[in-house]
Amino acid sequence: MKLVHTIEDLQRNLAEARAKGEKIGLVPTMGALHEGHASLVRRCAEENEVTVVSVFLNPTQFNDKKDLEKYPRTLDADCRLLESVGADIVFAPSVEEMYPQPDNRKFSYPPVDSVMEGAFRPGHFNGVCQIVSKLFAAVAPDRAYFGEKDFQQIAVIRAMVEDLHIEVEIISCPVVREQSGLAMSSRNTLLTDGERAIAANIFGVLMKSKNFASGHTLNETRRYVIDSLNAVIGLEVQYFSIVDGETLQELEEWTDSDDIVGCITVFCGSQPIRLIDHIRYK
Ligand code: PAJ
Repeated sequence: MKLVHTIEDLQRNLAEARAKGEKIGLVPTMGALHEGHASLVRRCAEENEVTVVSVFLNPTQFNDKKDLEKYPRTLDADCRLLESVGADIVFAPSVEEMYPQPDNRKFSYPPVDSVMEGAFRPGHFNGVCQIVSKLFAAVAPDRAYFGEKDFQQIAVIRAMVEDLHIEVEIISCPVVREQSGLAMSSRNTLLTDGERAIAANIFGVLMKSKNFASGHTLNETRRYVIDSLNAVIGLEVQYFSIVDGETLQELEEWTDSDDIVGCITVFCGSQPIRLIDHIRYK
């Protein structure tokens, strides 16, 4: 496995594989890697001759600078994990390497980037599109792997790829959870053990709401999730939206669509830490 820090070095390392017609897979990450990231890398390594993993804490997607400051940075441990799961190249550039000039580009794909995370984290998806478009340009991957953990992010990236006619296949991978059901996240390391246990209620209530949904209206189901979680000391729901899984438009009633997803963001603990999750109703 090679660790490279510049686009020039990265491309030098990819040239031979590309000339031989080998498939190149990319897994973009912000580091502080866990089993969720590892699952993406393993899948990428199975499906491509070359697996590139980018580790870059992208400042432009953090609308909250405190969130950026406290984000865990663990490049050495990340590299050990990546080597063990089959990465070939780790691309860990500096901010100056990725943004030699300020990036003034604006991306806008309503409604997928304007609802939910887009509404509560202004500028977040614009920053995601800035960095992911730069990574796609630097690596020119045949396939890129993203986790359904960030359900809305995948929809935004698909919209960008279509808009910019980028030739890359976007592969979405299932959420990896802790035994408690809590979706794995780099931010989980910022939780105390007690907070982690409390946070497990998020997926617990979402799962229970699947049963509840079969005998109740959509609005009753929404209320059930929000009220059950707000009743847990240490949790506060920021939003819970039940949406069409493709357009991400909020629904008012159950429809016969077979793609209905509940997306939630919850604050946990005293700092607090912002956690996201989702559940598929159909
Ligand atoms: P990051 O949060 O590091 O996540 C990198 C990738 O790992 C994303 O595609 C994310 O959905 C996936 N992932 C995280 N936790 C997961 C889990 N528990 N199960 C499955 N997949 C999981 O998402 C980002 O970074 C950034 O926005 C990025 C796309 C790298 C752009 O900066």
